[in-house]
This record gives sequence, structure tokens and C-alpha cells, in this order.
Amino acid sequence: MIRGGFYQFRPVFGEVQRNVESVLRRLDEAEADLIVLPELFNSGYQFISRREVAELSEEIPDGFTTQRLCEIAKDKKLWLVAGIPERAGRVFYNSSILIGPKGYVATYRKTHLFYEEKLFFKPGANRFRAYDIGKARIGMMICFDWYFPEVARALALAGAEIICHPANLVLPHCPDAMVTRCLENHVFAITANRIGSEQRGGKKRLTYIGQSEIVDPKGRILFRAARSQEVLKIVEINPREARHKTLNRYNNLFHDRRVELYVV
Ligand code: ACM
Repeated sequence: MIRGGFYQFRPVFGEVQRNVESVLRRLDEAEADLIVLPELFNSGYQFISRREVAELSEEIPDGFTTQRLCEIAKDKKLWLVAGIPERAGRVFYNSSILIGPKGYVATYRKTHLFYEEKLFFKPGANRFRAYDIGKARIGMMICFDWYFPEVARALALAGAEIICHPANLVLPHCPDAMVTRCLENHVFAITANRIGSEQRGGKKRLTYIGQSEIVDPKGRILFRAARSQEVLKIVEINPREARHKTLNRYNNLFHDRRVELYVV
């Protein structure tokens, strides 16, 4: 069994140090093996210039946020998945980092950028892969990636048992859609969304829908948070439940695929 969950909260735009330190204080109370934090959890979401992106992005793993998360992961023997803006030379990515008790492990760069993210970030070109964190194999995707069922499928085919999904959701559909993503791939998913709203630079107000959730391979919602409450939630997950893809004596989700017919 693995104790896994999320921390749903309200980041303050631009206040990286304040956001990181307040998250660390909260995580310090958690009894958990794996915690997922929202997308861009340290910076906030609604960038209005490339200059802001440049100022708030960090190199991975040497930047402040990755280093601070590594400290708490080591102290608490914790695995963390967290969304941050990444600087790689003169290029910026909307990234998710995986950190374990022994330090930084991997970065996933968001593949499907949403709306004005396209003005500021370069889309990732990663292969989707799973990481062994001892008690489970996890995969990463970020927010709008949920809209592309290929992502969850690729992660499941790569062996992910728990999809860790940092998010800053504004559209209403994702919490229900993740039920289908889990059902069709027979995996768990932990979606960590944020709360609150942002309206910067005269742009349209973005209101984040909360409702972070943990869904199991049978599509059952093990827990769904409220729309606007700060919530740290951990549940017991048995990753073995995601290891087989058998529905009944005749159907197996992976063996039944007709890949040769899916080519258009
Ligand atoms: C989103 O991808 N942040 C909606």
C-alpha cells in the first residue's frame, strides 16, 4: 500500500518563496509517501509577459524550489510531484518535477499547452514514461494533457500505476473526465488542482475550480475536494489494483486493442 494524495491550495502570483515555504509547512504535517502539488504551484499561473516568465522560472534541479522540495522529501522520506515554470537556457517550459527521498529524479515538460501558455512556454517533447518509486510506478502529465486521451494511455502502456497530474483547471470537465481516463486504462490518478482566481494585466479573470481528486482503476472517486477550500488529502492506494488490465474472462484492456485499425 502507498499513502498518496494532493495538496490543493491558493498560490499567490509571483511570491515564489512565500508559496514554497507555506506549502512546506503544510507538508511537514502530512503522513504520506507521495504528494502531488498543483501546476505552477510556486509561481501562480496567469503570466502577462515573457519577462515575468523569465523572472519566475527556475533551472531544474539547481533552482530554489527544486532544492527546497528535495530537503523536505529527504527529511520526510517522501515522493513529490510538483508543477513549476522551468528555465532551460533561453527557453521556458511548464514542467512537473519528480523528487524522492534521495533527491531530484525527473522532469516532465507539459506537452499540450493551453490557451496563452502558448505565448510563454515551449511545448515539451518527452516520451511518456513511468518511474519506479518503490511502492508504485508513477507517470506524470500536466493539466490540459487530460484532454488528449493518448497521454494517459501512453503512461499506462509505459507501466504507470498512478498518474500524477498537477493542474490549474479552469474548465469544468476534467474531474469527471479523469474517471474515464482511469477506467479506460485501469490506473489510479491523483489530480492536484489549485483554488482561487487571478486577473492580471487587464486579462480575463481565471477562476480555478478546485475539486482535486483521487480516482481508482474502477473509476471510483476515492476523494474529491471542494471547489474553493484548501485541502491536504492522503488516501491508502493499493497500486497492485492497477497492474492487471483484465475486465472479465474475455476482455483485457491492453490485449484487446486493435492498434492496426487506429491508423488514419
Ligand atoms: C491548463 O492546462 N492549465 C488548463
